[in-house]
Parts: sequence; C-alpha cells; structure tokens
Amino acid sequence: LTPLKELEVERRRAERLVYFQTLAAGIAHEIKNPLVAIKTFTQLLPRRLGDTRFLEEFGRISTREIARIQRLLDRLRTLSRPAGAPRHGIDVRAPLTDALDLVQAALEEKGLAMTVGLGSEKCMVLGNHQELEELFLNLLLNAHEATAPGGTISVEVTRGETDVLVAVADNGPGILPELLERVFEPLFTTKPRGSGLGLAISSGIAQAHGARLRAANRSTGGAILTVEFPLTPAASAVTV
Ligand SMILES: Nc1ncnc2c1ncn2[C@@H]1O[C@H](COP(=O)(O)OP(=O)(O)OP(=O)(O)O)[C@@H](O)[C@H]1O
Ligand SMILES: [Mg+2]
Repeated sequence: LTPLKELEVERRRAERLVYFQTLAAGIAHEIKNPLVAIKTFTQLLPRRLGDTRFLEEFGRISTREIARIQRLLDRLRTLSRPAGAPRHGIDVRAPLTDALDLVQAALEEKGLAMTVGLGSEKCMVLGNHQELEELFLNLLLNAHEATAPGGTISVEVTRGETDVLVAVADNGPGILPELLERVFEPLFTTKPRGSGLGLAISSGIAQAHGARLRAANRSTGGAILTVEFPLTPAASAVTV
C-alpha cells in the first residue's frame, strides 16, 4: 500500500469506530432508562409486598418500560435486517393508506389538518407492505411531532413515467440546513424522548426497495420528506 492509501484505510477505520461508538452509546442509553425504572421498583418490592397500590404501580411501570425495550429491539432488528423480506407487486398507495389510518386519530387529537392526494392511477412497485407502512408511518409521526396545533400535514403521490414520488410535507419549523443529512444517522435526534431511529430505519427500507428517501425544506416553511420508487416495468408500461 502507498502511504496515501494507508492513510485512507486508517481514516475509514477511525470513522467506523466513531460510528460504532455512537451507536453503542445510544443503544446503551435507550436501554438504561427503562432498566433503572424497573430496578428501582424491584429493589423496593420485598419491603412493600403488603402495599396494593405499590404492587399495581409496579405492574404498570414494569410493563410499560419492558415494552419500551421491546420496541427498541424490534426497531433495531428492522434496522439490521438485510433486504430479506418477501416482495410483491403492490400499489404503493396501499401501505400509505394504512399508515394514514394509523395516525388519523393522533392528528385529530392535536388539532392538525391533513390533505391527501393519492391520484387516480395505480402505482405498482416491487415491495413489502409491512416495511413500506413502517416507512410512511415514521414520516407521518415526524410530521405530526413537528407541527403545532392548527397546522397542516400534506401527503401527495405523484406518478411519473418510470417512478412514483411520495411526499410528506408539514408546516413545522423545518430542518436546519446543516442537519439535513444527519437526520438519517441512527440515533440522531433533537427530541427529548426520541430514539433517533425512525429515519435511519426508513432510509434502510427505502434502500432495500431501490428507492431514495430525501429530506428538504419547503420554500413556504416546514419540512418535506420524499421517497422516490421505481415503478415495476409492467406497471410503468401500461396506465391502469
Ligand atoms: N418533519 C420534520 N420536521 C422537523 N424535523 C424533523 C422532521 N423529521 C425529522 N426531523 C428531525 O430529524 C430527527 C431524526 O428523526 P427520526 O425520526 O430518525 O428520530 P426521532 O423522531 O427523533 O425519534 P424516533 O423516530 O426514533 O421516535 C428528529 O429528531 C428531528 O430533529
Ligand atoms: Mg421519528
């Protein structure tokens, strides 16, 4: 190896180490919080066996905190899974509609309006319904979290010749320009209770579908997240 190549190899190794350290620290932190809660209760348990209120509280808190760890593990599994899930020819609007149904109540509760444009044409892609639903759900949840009551979230499907674009836009504060690429890093979050996994998982899912996930700010304010899928050849040849 030339000295220059050696330097390059070393630089990459150092980068991977930093990345791994960040990931490990983040995961440790995410597991530590719920564990501390469970541990505190468990330590008090022998002295509080006669206290029904305590026992009820213990059951409630441990169940909730264990569920948090479980959700984290599920999401990490999605993040680490290579593109192995079965894929079929599906209309991309189907998982999108399911994700929209899931957030509907939360949007109403926060007083957010939603405009949805699904178009009238089928948008067939080779994909996995469950993974795509998770992807769209992550984008919708972020839009929900970013937008203040009274705001609007808009979802738009645009079919081109060979691809289909799904855009989720909001009128929250948008994303700082210097953070536009960092938001896809695992565990990058600006939220006090965020785990920073949503967009990392989503970009992994997009990649496994040959799609591209991009983040940008709208000129009118707010963020816009777009996913661009290649249409399956059969579907792009005929208009259904
Ligand atoms: N629509 C949006 N508007 C403004 N900022 C956003 C938006 N979507 C994502 N971000 C920024 O990107 C960061 C990473 O998003 P991501 O979904 O990966 O993690 P999170 O939402 O913080 O946590 P999690 O999704 O795991 O609950 C967010 O913390 C936020 O700073
Ligand atoms: Mg999120």
